[in-house]
Amino acid sequence: MKTTLSVIKADIGSIAGHIKPSQKLLEIIKNFIKKSDLISDYRVFYTGDDIAIFLVHQKGKDNPEIHKLAWDSFMEATQIAKEQGLYGAGQDLLKDSFAGNVKGAGPAVAELEFEERPAEPVFLFMADKTNPGAYNLPFYLAFSDPFYNSGLILVPEISKGFKFVIADMEYKGEGERVIELCAPEELYDIACLLRDTEKYGILEIYSRHSGEQCVSVSTTRLHNIAGKYTGKDDPVALVRLQKHFPAAGEILAPFSLAPYVPGFMRGSHQGPLMPVKVNTPVSYFDGPPIVSCVGFCVHNGKLTEEVDVFDHPFWDYVREKAAQKAEEIRRQGFFGNAMVSKQELEYTGITDKLKILESRFKIKG
Ligand code: F6R
Ligand code: MG
Ligand code: MG
Repeated sequence: MKTTLSVIKADIGSIAGHIKPSQKLLEIIKNFIKKSDLISDYRVFYTGDDIAIFLVHQKGKDNPEIHKLAWDSFMEATQIAKEQGLYGAGQDLLKDSFAGNVKGAGPAVAELEFEERPAEPVFLFMADKTNPGAYNLPFYLAFSDPFYNSGLILVPEISKGFKFVIADMEYKGEGERVIELCAPEELYDIACLLRDTEKYGILEIYSRHSGEQCVSVSTTRLHNIAGKYTGKDDPVALVRLQKHFPAAGEILAPFSLAPYVPGFMRGSHQGPLMPVKVNTPVSYFDGPPIVSCVGFCVHNGKLTEEVDVFDHPFWDYVREKAAQKAEEIRRQGFFGNAMVSKQELEYTGITDKLKILESRFKIKG
């Protein structure tokens, strides 16, 4: 029997702006999920203003009952968010009713299905104030660069490389528009796409040794669904680790770069991706963009106790560097690379102004 991991996350309201959900919301969701007999285990976390529901079950990916369980719990908690007067109550629930899959309805989803190994180590990543492209650089390095993944030269099975499935996040049709590229032969093609964190995002990664999937990233684009700005897409990701997949520390190593990613204040700026402890709110300039990561082993459909991997002295040092990078880019305010591209701006103020100014341009000389 295969085991499925599903992480489904949404922003359904938060305290004092887009900072963190209330304890009550987390309790309501936990109590709702706990009663279900569809799942064999679960956990609930928050990162910034987003709540992530992590479910273990045997029902496979895209299962309507599992998606409905998450949707219904978010709906119930939204009522409480409204009663409590939380900001942005129900913000990411963009459809009035559930139609079989939460994809395309607002919440972000990442899922993995596999035959459990005797020990099955996994990471769950949760990011806020950024978009799915935030994982492009860390996962590109962890799965294709021997500087970060020593297994690529030390372990013959890992040396066979990985297949990247990359999604075009601007695509507005049904399903996902994707391309499959293999490392190492097509490394430069992979790099060409992944450099553009606004348009392209890693959706899945597969081992070329076993053909098994080891990464799943949510690539939801809320503004494609709603047709207007409704918040950034704050992505979640699941990664299988060890043996013929990268080791835990090889996956984590590239996060020490704290790369600049789109998001931050009003989803319209570039900021460093700061690795934070689980259940961390945002703060400075509605950010900086943050990513938390919790590790488990999955065994017979149950989760072991968890480890908060960025809760370690090494990451205090990285956080310090990320804070310096955040302050540095903020010193140039709205100029040049400090803001995202015109297409990606999440509010219409600048584009409205540009339209008006356009009519005042004239040819001189
Ligand atoms: C970014 C984010 C915040 C809000 C900002 C303004 O993803 O959530 O930076 O954009 O706090 O929020 P509103 O428009 O709701 O007042
Ligand atoms: Mg939000
Ligand atoms: Mg958020």
